Amino acid sequence: MSGPAVAPEGDLRATASPEATERLGEALAGSLAAGDVLLLVGPLGAGKTCLVAGLARGLGCPGRVRSPSFTLVNEYEGRLPLFHLDLYRLQGPEAEALGLEERLERGVLAVEWGERLPRHLCQQALALRFEIATATERRIHASGEGARGRQLLDGFRAAAAKAAWR
Ligand SMILES: Nc1ncnc2c1ncn2[C@@H]1O[C@H](COP(=O)(O)OP(=O)(O)OP(=O)(O)O)[C@@H](O)[C@H]1O
Ligand SMILES: [Mg+2]
Repeated sequence: MSGPAVAPEGDLRATASPEATERLGEALAGSLAAGDVLLLVGPLGAGKTCLVAGLARGLGCPGRVRSPSFTLVNEYEGRLPLFHLDLYRLQGPEAEALGLEERLERGVLAVEWGERLPRHLCQQALALRFEIATATERRIHASGEGARGRQLLDGFRAAAAKAAWR
């Protein structure tokens, strides 16, 4: 896994396999604290759920991560509660009714189709934009909003460096 930084405020990495994407998520988990928001953006099959599986492993959550497409929010208990959302089927205002502020006080939100999350929840977020490069390669562009988002971007860089050597 490697790649040049694309801009001072962003970072571009590539993963060569689902396992590599999962390891990246696992390493990133070490940077997370309650109140953190990860926006996962990209097409169907891009690897968003795969990265969340790594987050869950890194947070020490037992059990398998499944796509929350039908349940909207899955909760995993680890070092911190991990709330895994998939907003693919959601209409705009419905996200307001999910009680996310209360969940965010307790844990981390990892949001697939994160571009559909209400704006006020994105202001300190780390956004990961996935691109399908080949059958087995994904490009992941990271950017951080606000002071916390930029800290998380540093965490992402460190995680990418760590995951690349395992
Ligand atoms: N480098 C890679 N990283 C992640 N997944 C990969 C990679 N290469 C191939 N894949 C495959 O791509 C698929 C990614 O599926 P995943 O469910 O994580 O996508 P998703 O972005 O969550 O899609 P959806 O929007 O449908 O929920 C899996 O079948 C996985 O095996
Ligand atoms: Mg998914």
